[in-house]
This record gives sequence, C-alpha cells and structure tokens, in this order.
Amino acid sequence: MEARYRGTSRQGQFIAERTWFHLCGIVGFTGEREAQEIVLDCLKRLEYRGYDSAGIAMISDGALTLKKSVGEISALESQIERMPGLTGIAHTRWATHGKPTTANAHPFTDCKGEYALVHNGILTNYMELKEQLIKRGHKFTSETDSEVLVHMLEEVAGADLKSKVLAVLKLVEGSYAIAVVQKGHDEIVAARNESPLIVGVGHDENFIASDVTAILKHTNEVIYLLDREAVRITPKGVELFDLNGVAFERDPKKVSWNLEDAEKSGYAHFMLKEIFEQPRAIHESLLGRLEGQEDDAFFKEQFTSIKILGCGTSYHAGLVGKYIIEELSRIPTNAQISSEYRYSPVTEAKPLVVCISQSGETADTLAAAREAKKRGCKTIAITNVLGSAITREADFVIYTRAGPEIGVAATKTFVTQLIALYLLGLRLGTIKNTISSERRREIVSEMRALPRIVQSVLNDAGKIEDFAKKYKCAQSMFFIGRHMNYPTSLEGALKTKEISYIHGEGYPAGELKHGPLALLSKDTPVVAICAADHTYEKMLGNVREVTARESPVLAIGVEGNQDLEKYAEDVFLVPKVDPLFSPIPIIVALQLFAYYLAIARGCPIDKPRNIAKTVTVE
Ligand code: F6R
Repeated sequence: MEARYRGTSRQGQFIAERTWFHLCGIVGFTGEREAQEIVLDCLKRLEYRGYDSAGIAMISDGALTLKKSVGEISALESQIERMPGLTGIAHTRWATHGKPTTANAHPFTDCKGEYALVHNGILTNYMELKEQLIKRGHKFTSETDSEVLVHMLEEVAGADLKSKVLAVLKLVEGSYAIAVVQKGHDEIVAARNESPLIVGVGHDENFIASDVTAILKHTNEVIYLLDREAVRITPKGVELFDLNGVAFERDPKKVSWNLEDAEKSGYAHFMLKEIFEQPRAIHESLLGRLEGQEDDAFFKEQFTSIKILGCGTSYHAGLVGKYIIEELSRIPTNAQISSEYRYSPVTEAKPLVVCISQSGETADTLAAAREAKKRGCKTIAITNVLGSAITREADFVIYTRAGPEIGVAATKTFVTQLIALYLLGLRLGTIKNTISSERRREIVSEMRALPRIVQSVLNDAGKIEDFAKKYKCAQSMFFIGRHMNYPTSLEGALKTKEISYIHGEGYPAGELKHGPLALLSKDTPVVAICAADHTYEKMLGNVREVTARESPVLAIGVEGNQDLEKYAEDVFLVPKVDPLFSPIPIIVALQLFAYYLAIARGCPIDKPRNIAKTVTVE
C-alpha cells in the first residue's frame, strides 16, 4: 500500500492527495523447490483483485534480489531472468487508473539491502516515523508509508528476524499485513493487523498469502491468522506467535473450495461478497480520519452553497449527502444528476462542487466536473479508484477505501461514499462551527459503531432471503421513504431493477397519493422504510394508505418499533442508530433483498444484462 501527500500531514489525515491501496496482494513461499515460478504463479491467482504493479524479492544463494515493474505480472515475468532460490515474497499493488511507478511498487528494501518487505494496509503514524528515520540518515526510494517498516528493521534491536519484526510492529499504528525476508535466511516472518493474511501448510514447504486463492493449487491446508498475530515459516515448520512473541498453536483447516470459489472467498457471487465486506470497508474508510479534525481543515473558504454531482448509485449517495451536509453544516446543498448539470443556465455564486464516482471514469461526471471548473467552482472528487480521471479534474480527492468492486451493482462503494459524505459534513460543520463538541463526540462514536451495526444486519440475511422468496414473482414494486431515506428508497429500487429485473420504483412516501396509488394492487408489493425518526408516524400513515389498496407491505423498521407488525404484512428490523446514520443499515438490508430476489429469479447477478461497470460514454 502507498500513501502520498501533497499537502501537510494534517491535511492528509482525511482528505485529498492521499493515495492508498488496501487490497493489494501478498504471497510468500519457502520450501525445497525453486521459489520464483511458484511465487509468481500464486501472485497471478490474486489478479482478480485488480492491481497496477507487481514485484518479487528472492533469497538466492545468500543474496537478496529484487525486481519490480508497473503493469501486469506477465510484464514483470518477461523482465526477469531466472532468480534462483528457495524462498521468495511477492506483491501486487492495486490502483487501476493511477500513475504507478516502479519505485513505489513493493517489495522494499533497507539501506543495506539486508531485508525485503511487502505490506498491505495503512500506517497512520508513518509520517513521524519517516521524519525520524530521515534524520538518522536513512535514504527513502519511494513515497510510500510501507517503506518505513523496512528501514526500521535496521534500527531495532533483536537477535533474529522474528524479534526484529516484533520490535518494529510495537512502534507502528494502523493496519497491516506484512511479509519480510532476510538475506541468507530461508524463512519468512509475516504478521497481520486489520488486513487479511493466511498461512498455507504444505509438505516440506509453506506459504503465506493475502487469501487462499493464491495457494490453493499447492495446498488446501490453511491457518487463518487473526489480528495482531504473526508467523514464521521455514520449509519444515510453521511457528505461530502473538505480537508479544508468545507462541500458540492452531490446527490448519482443510479448504474445500475450487479456485473460482476461492476468488469469491466462498461467496456465490462478487456482489454478495462485496455486501458482506461492508463492515470492513466502513472501518477502512474511517481509519485515521476521525481523529484531530477540529484543527485539520483542508480548505479555509466558507462556502455558501454546495452542489453534489453523480450518476446512478453515486447520485443517490449525493442525495443522501444533501441531508447529511445540511444537518451538520447548515450549508444549503443540492444534488444533481451529472448529465443534467450542464443544462442549468443559472450558476449559483460558486458553490463547492462535490463529484461522486466510484470508478472515477464515468464520462457524464467527468464532463460535469470540467463544467464546474469552467464555472470557477472549487471541486472535490469522491472516488474509489486511485489516480482515476476524476482525481485529475478535481481540486481535492476523498478516496473511499472499499477495495475493488467487481460486481456491476455498486454496494460497498455506495456505503463508503456515504462515509466520505459524513466526514465531509463533519469537516464543513467544524469549519462553520455548527456542531457542538458534545454532538461531535456522539457522531464520532456512532460512526465507530457502524461496522458492528452493519454486521448485525448481515447476520440476519437469512430472514431477508425468505422475504425475497415470497416476493420474487412481483412484476413491479414500490420503495417508499421520507427525508434522508427517500434517496435510500431510490437506491433500493435501483438495486432491485438492475439485479433482479423487477421494475422497482423509489418514491417519496408523501407523493404516493399524488398519482402512483393508481398502480397499487395486491400484486404490487411496497417496501416501506420506517426509520425511527421524526418521519415515523407519517410513514405509518403511508403504510396504512398502501395496505388499504391491498398491496403487501414489507416494512424496514428499527429494533424497538414493534407496532409496525400491526400495520405491515412483513417486517424486517435493523439495529437502532442515530437517525443521521439510518440510511446505512437500511440500504444494506435493501441490497440483500435485491440480491436474494435476483437469486430466486435465477438472474446472473454480477453481470446484469445491458449494463457495464464503468460507463465511459456520455
Ligand atoms: C448501480 C451502479 C451505477 C453507477 C453509475 C455511476 O448499481 O453501479 O448506477 O453508480 O454508473 O458510476 P460511478 O460511480 O463509477 O461514476
């Protein structure tokens, strides 16, 4: 992973100029066979994660050799002669449209060329560490945070590689999966904290990898490392220990997946995997961004208005963003579909323009960003893809840290776009002094709880699957909500139509009586979002209005809203959160509903007909 700052380190805490990769791939092998081919082959199994550069380090006859290159693993392969040796580590770095350089690719080595290291994750205190190391004469060759780790190995005391690695890890904060080799030693020391890492156990050979996909061809005996655990592998042994060096034992598990299953970590589809990755994606998106924001302003201007632009799901995130930003900063905000922006003849007095695009390549949003610049507006891009086109158009970038999204339907990128908007709202509110310190504390603690909240919705997926089976024959469905859950209803409807091919219509609940009630009948189910906020009583009224037309209602409510059962045929309850965050658990329930509807109808899920993941035409 890499972090790059253009501004000060404080600015980098939250916004812009930070590039980063949390789903890079790591592999390592040590055994009695030549390692080079095995390691590169394992690395290729991680290609599905997306990457832009790759590298390998080999322990060869007492020497340490290292090769890296931008582009595909095959490009790396074609550049390297045979690298002899029985131990090697390798890495892929992810950023599909970035400007990757060989210097920033992993592995990294220290000043003396004694150690080589690969890292996946984000070190939140790397700036301080790097400054100290530079003062002590260390020469850095990359802009990455990862490189500090390998220079620190030179500094710390320790009798062997294992104790040195543990000593280094005591000094770093953040997330990591690392693997380290040392010249002259056929061993790999690896450790994890909040980044995946597994150990593959073979006969007279052992592996480490980011996930089982990488090693499945060679062994299906796997030990899953947990946070703050480490391992030392040699051809003959696997030694497990915690970060204090205390040894422990864990039996390997036999993995029964085939290779394709493994890429999806055992999930039937990428979409389901990505839905289930959301607790982690939220956690990553918050990492290091909630601290010290009061004095961490990235721009000084007071904006009198904000315009959010996006297409499809990203536009829906923008619609929720309007409520978030207005609530937190009291700055008038509106969201507009990117392709419509250019037709507005009225230009407000230079709003801050926020362009949301998970891919960063959507032609309509790029055109809108250019138009906004032409109109003299300051622009912020919210995107999931490092160095994508939108990042070159915008003045600032907020990266969502969802990792690559492969399913065509946006899920984890939507939820992390909302996280970026909460963070932006907090920032704008802090600048404008519209959030009391007590409210800020509440918000921060609510945000930290979101991964757990989302996990608890996911734990109830079975119930949603049952509802989906019941409603799978519908031709048409309405999704209704009020206030910030009106856009949630639009997003639920969009997921349903694109994945299950059922016509889903999102509607503000108060508008049904102004026309659409004519469409309701017992064959038109209505999904009613009944958040526990000031809209609840009105939503109950809308539910009654619908049931009077004999439409079956699936109410999405909040734990504690037991009376919903009196009015709605089916009820799914999500955990209670501060109303400001209610769209998050609710949309996760609706994503699952769309997914299971599509399953029940035998739809292709990850590649729905007629739509592409990235829309590069206007
Ligand atoms: C729906 C979906 C699309 C995208 C839209 C914008 O699930 O994925 O509606 O949200 O095409 O794409 P980005 O965010 O890449 O600009």
